[in-house]
Amino acid sequence: MKVLFNSEILEKSEVTIDMEDRGYQFGDGVYEVVNVYNGIAFTLVEHVDRLYRSAEEIRLNIPIEREEVKQLIVRLINENSVKNGSIYLQITRGVAPRKHQYDSKIKPLLIAYPLPFSDVSDVQQQGVKAITAEDLRWLRCDIKSLNLLYNIMIKQEAHEQGAYEAILLRDGQVTEGSSSNIFIVKDDTIYTHPANNYILNGITRIKLLQLFHQKEWKIKEQPVSKQFLLNADEVFLTSTTNEVVPITMIDEVKINDGKPGSFTRKIQQAFTELVK
Ligand code: PDD
Repeated sequence: MKVLFNSEILEKSEVTIDMEDRGYQFGDGVYEVVNVYNGIAFTLVEHVDRLYRSAEEIRLNIPIEREEVKQLIVRLINENSVKNGSIYLQITRGVAPRKHQYDSKIKPLLIAYPLPFSDVSDVQQQGVKAITAEDLRWLRCDIKSLNLLYNIMIKQEAHEQGAYEAILLRDGQVTEGSSSNIFIVKDDTIYTHPANNYILNGITRIKLLQLFHQKEWKIKEQPVSKQFLLNADEVFLTSTTNEVVPITMIDEVKINDGKPGSFTRKIQQAFTELVK
């Protein structure tokens, strides 16, 4: 496997990570996951822009130009002959003796490599179970930070309970999933949490909202309560790697008849056309 290491493409065996990298010690960095369809990175511009935005928010200056990052990702895809799959991309503040404050002169480390292909066609087809949990994350969920402790804790909890995702609730309102955005369909209106500091503004979310606007489907970017969620006509999650996955049961309560709904099917179809 070939790995992007700053501006170089190296063999994985040639890559070493310093134990004093602040990403390793503090989670001091940001990341992206980009999907590849037929050898082409989908919404690469949006992902790279979000990476720069996240980096700016934590005052990390990416030393490589945006254009170059995009070109390097394209090269990485080609050199690994990725046809369908995804690319993981992260930038950390760099290496320095361990202390909380940092010197602005340390050199950030950009790493990217292909993730193993994960087949989500079954979950997309059949739908999944979810649990709800309190959203105990910090208040800057808009930053795609490497700090994912609560996200992984609650995802693990979901999996141990036989569920696929944990839907987070802050002050009784649905924010998002542990690694996805959540959409709720009720009476022909699609609800999702507004893009503020309580959620990560997913690229899949953005693309779908654009599509819903084009199709003149009714959208309300507003939080909904747990009761509303459980009484929904349809619920689905979205993310780069999952695309659109129906949620058919939440906390052992069936959503509608417990089967993927027709709206979700239409949205899955529309998304497939988008990536073609
Ligand atoms: N996660 N919200 C959270 C908390 C996420 O971690 C993700 C994605 C999303 C969806 O964003 P997007 O549509 O841009 O993928 C929303 C990635 C895929 C991950 O951590 O693997």
